[in-house]
Amino acid sequence: MIIKSSEFITSVADAKMLLAHEFSEIAVAGKSNVGKSSFINFLTASGKLAKTSKTPGRTRLINYFLINDKKDQKTFFLVDLPGYGFASAPKDEKAKWENLIENYFMRSKCIKNVFVLIDIRHEPTLDDKQMLKYLYYYNISFTLIATKADKLSKNAVTKRKAEIAASLSLGLDNVFIVSSEKKTGKEEILDRIDQILDC
Ligand code: GTP
Ligand code: MG
Repeated sequence: MIIKSSEFITSVADAKMLLAHEFSEIAVAGKSNVGKSSFINFLTASGKLAKTSKTPGRTRLINYFLINDKKDQKTFFLVDLPGYGFASAPKDEKAKWENLIENYFMRSKCIKNVFVLIDIRHEPTLDDKQMLKYLYYYNISFTLIATKADKLSKNAVTKRKAEIAASLSLGLDNVFIVSSEKKTGKEEILDRIDQILDC
């Protein structure tokens, strides 16, 4: 898979207004501040396609990015979801985002896979586990991606990868490691996107 072009298409605040289109969608989900928007910028080699922030809770809408829009390319949407588990968000705001995410999964007809991002340094949270349970329940395929690998040594990355796989009952091959900061792990993710879009 080569990403030749990427374009922000629209933001949606209401799951009743989800974008109607004919392409596959790969959603990017995960705890607030885990690096979802940075990951999209890293994959698409774009510094500022998705807005990133040091402050958790930056992405509050569902953002659609169209990847590869020419005839000879594999076209799909990357969908940046609001982060969950943002502890200090006001309760009603939190409920609104969670509702939006849940409704997205229920209503969107074109989800091929969900990239579930977790910070490699931290144990998967209850919210992460709940998200995976939810995806299993609705039979939605997912890919587990550990972010911010640059924050650890090589040895620590290997150790954490095994711990995360064990904690989530996944095979080692099903845990991908990236650093959007140091731009590592991209080829494996692009191969994975190829597999996802081909099946
Ligand atoms: P929400 O939209 O609030 O849910 O956050 P998000 O998951 O989209 O996170 P975002 O991409 O905005 O990144 C959050 C913070 O983590 C920013 O300060 C990023 O610079 C930082 N960050 C993201 N990816 C990496 C990474 O691979 N390495 C390091 N060191 N920092 C990262
Ligand atoms: Mg974001």
